Amino acid sequence: MESLKQNILTEGKVLSDSVIKVDAFLNHQVDPVFMQRIGKEFASRFAGSGITKILTLESSGITPAVMTGLALQAPVIFARKRKSLTLNEHLYSTEVYSYTKKEANDISISKDYVDSDDVVLIIDDILANGQAALGMIDLVEQAGATLEGIGVVIEKGFQEGGKMLRERGIRVESLATIASLADGHVTFQSKEAI
Ligand code: G4P
Ligand code: NA
Ligand code: NA
Repeated sequence: MESLKQNILTEGKVLSDSVIKVDAFLNHQVDPVFMQRIGKEFASRFAGSGITKILTLESSGITPAVMTGLALQAPVIFARKRKSLTLNEHLYSTEVYSYTKKEANDISISKDYVDSDDVVLIIDDILANGQAALGMIDLVEQAGATLEGIGVVIEKGFQEGGKMLRERGIRVESLATIASLADGHVTFQSKEAI
């Protein structure tokens, strides 16, 4: 998505060879008009697949997920993060380990909002090692729902998440794939070069 790549280049700050700060438009400030374009792009990529629910993870996934839900006219559920969860029979829960933050969180959703009739699209802001995505897939499986695919705003193509998910046969749609952050430069995957 061209305008997204331009935003990454102009507003993103490369913090290291592996981390880019995108607070200006994704992780802190959001431009609703731009986010709506992101939602429409996910919606067009997954059009006609009968999606009944969008699933994301708080907090930064919520904005693109809501905009996608608006475009697809589907409800949006954001999984919640907890450090530790007292046993609650009315939740689907799973543990997500973050290699970036070196910590584990339980994530959970209420059993009220996803069931076996649902066709779920997972949306997230950034795909790195894919652990958050795996956790959300686990929640979809626990609910007995159908996973249609995963949409991420930014895929860090030099980390393993995208490859791991696609090898499992999961459809992953990324609006921008970063191939490298070496030397302070953002390089996009070649098929998406601008
Ligand atoms: P993974 O789920 O793909 O395995 O990702 P990982 O554990 O490595 O990421 C943990 C958090 O760090 C996630 O946000 C993820 O979006 C974010 N993250 C990973 N790499 C980058 C990066 O290069 N830039 C930025 N800006 N964020 C990155 P989170 O903990 O879920 O926080 P929130 O933003 O949703 O509140
Ligand atoms: Na994030
Ligand atoms: Na996220």
